[in-house]
Amino acid sequence: MPADPPPRLLVFDSGVGGLSIMADIQRLLPHCSVSYASDNAAFPYGTKSEEVLVARVDRVLHRLIEHSRPDVVVVACNSASTLALPHIRAHFREPIVGVVPAIKPAAHQSRSRVIGLLATPGTVARSYTRDLIQQFAADCTVISLGSSELVRLAEAHLRGQTPSLAQLQDLLSPMLSHPRAPEMDTLVLACTHFPLLKQELQAVVGPEVALIDSGEAIARRVAYWLTELGRRKSASESPVHQALFTADGPEVERLGPALAEFGINDIQVVAVPNN
Ligand code: DGL
Repeated sequence: MPADPPPRLLVFDSGVGGLSIMADIQRLLPHCSVSYASDNAAFPYGTKSEEVLVARVDRVLHRLIEHSRPDVVVVACNSASTLALPHIRAHFREPIVGVVPAIKPAAHQSRSRVIGLLATPGTVARSYTRDLIQQFAADCTVISLGSSELVRLAEAHLRGQTPSLAQLQDLLSPMLSHPRAPEMDTLVLACTHFPLLKQELQAVVGPEVALIDSGEAIARRVAYWLTELGRRKSASESPVHQALFTADGPEVERLGPALAEFGINDIQVVAVPNN
């Protein structure tokens, strides 16, 4: 019988945030092999200038696509997607699925018309994000907060350090002290790192606030592309996952247990220096 390898996806982020997207992809598409790539050499993305970030994403994706030969690429990073998707789609042959803030579903479900938007400073400032708000949530009060510290805490969380409630309360206080914050019924987690702290964030904002992210929608979009490519059906071979990092170091080693929970036991360094 001829070999029938599973489709391969490249799921890419600056750090571990894209694992929140990978979880949704694995639930919907368990037959796919996933190369999970973290550009840890250039982490974080959320504070980089737009010019620097577009050039970096272009460079890293060339290297990662050449290395893993994916059928579909997922840019599992709001900071990169809200900026670089047109550039990426023009420069690569593979279908590209991007992750952008879930403003539309949030506006759809909010009854109070007061929505929180938690993202990186980069994503909050993008014209793409402002346009989404204008297009889908013009009648809502959107309370935005950009936080790189929360990204750092999510990274530490996957390495075994859970942030305290007080730490998170402090971080979210600029949002929660907004005069209309008591009416907020929906909070958009517009950085892929943040669903990794979903339980903890829920404890801070309270059970009545719905936390929304883009993971399921992204998994469905990947499924669409696999159908288009004729690769939706199960393969005869089992999926094999791997993690790729653009720099080596002890921070990578400490992720071993978290990666194993996603079925990733093969960890490789594809060096792409940040210069
Ligand atoms: N996980 C990324 C995002 O969705 C970026 C985090 C960072 O590197 O700042 O925005």
